[in-house]
Amino acid sequence: MSETLTIALSKGRIYEETMPLLAHAGIVPKDDPETSRKLILDTNHDDVKLVIIRATDVPTYVQYGAADIGVAGKDVLLEHGGEGLYEPLDLEIAKCRLMTAGPVGAKEPEGRLRIATKFVNCARRYYAEQGKQVEVIKLYGSMELAPLVGLADFIIDVVDTGNTLKANGLEPLEHIADISSRLVVNKASMKMKHARVKKLIDQIAEAVKNK
Ligand code: ATP
Ligand code: PRP
Repeated sequence: MSETLTIALSKGRIYEETMPLLAHAGIVPKDDPETSRKLILDTNHDDVKLVIIRATDVPTYVQYGAADIGVAGKDVLLEHGGEGLYEPLDLEIAKCRLMTAGPVGAKEPEGRLRIATKFVNCARRYYAEQGKQVEVIKLYGSMELAPLVGLADFIIDVVDTGNTLKANGLEPLEHIADISSRLVVNKASMKMKHARVKKLIDQIAEAVKNK
């Protein structure tokens, strides 16, 4: 048996949308992360394992080589910085947009803006490029609440249908980046396990193209 190839995925939309792509490459997990409490899933190949982790942790596992390959949103990759990773393939799944948003019709207040987000690095970079002084407030979720309770003037979050913003009296404002999920590969794995990694990338690329 060859050395194990470990693939890092998060539960939910990324797992659901990656499964058909992996199936095209002949990889089928033996458990379902939605019903199993296991964090390491065996597959139909003894030498391929899936690790199930938080979406924001995927680049970290791949960067340090704890996983050879992973699937992560471009938002998460922009925030992480991409150190130690190759990003060879756009999977064209989990598409959304990274945007600023604020209360409907709100005017920009004078002085330093307060921005609530889980994407603090993206936020600092974005406003620095605009030459704007901002205070970035780190949150871990439910960013939409922040402007409603006076914690922040604006938020930065991903937007798809806009329904979440609308339901909370907010509107999308500035577009920062188009987002989709990417295949990421540990730089050492790309060299050491090149043939297997390359074959998997090619098979998944073909699945993306045929979608
Ligand atoms: P974590 O658990 O680490 O906080 P999360 O809850 O954001 O992460 P998911 O909701 O599964 O994890 O999102 C995974 C990725 O899917 C995001 O990084 C983003 O690229 C994309 N995404 C998030 N929300 C949407 C959405 N409403 N529509 C389409 N894609 C989305
Ligand atoms: C994401 C994001 C927004 C919402 C945007 O949350 O944080 O809240 O999607 O999508 P919309 O524009 O279609 O409403 P998600 O649904 O992933 O829930 P989460 O808070 O569990 O991440």
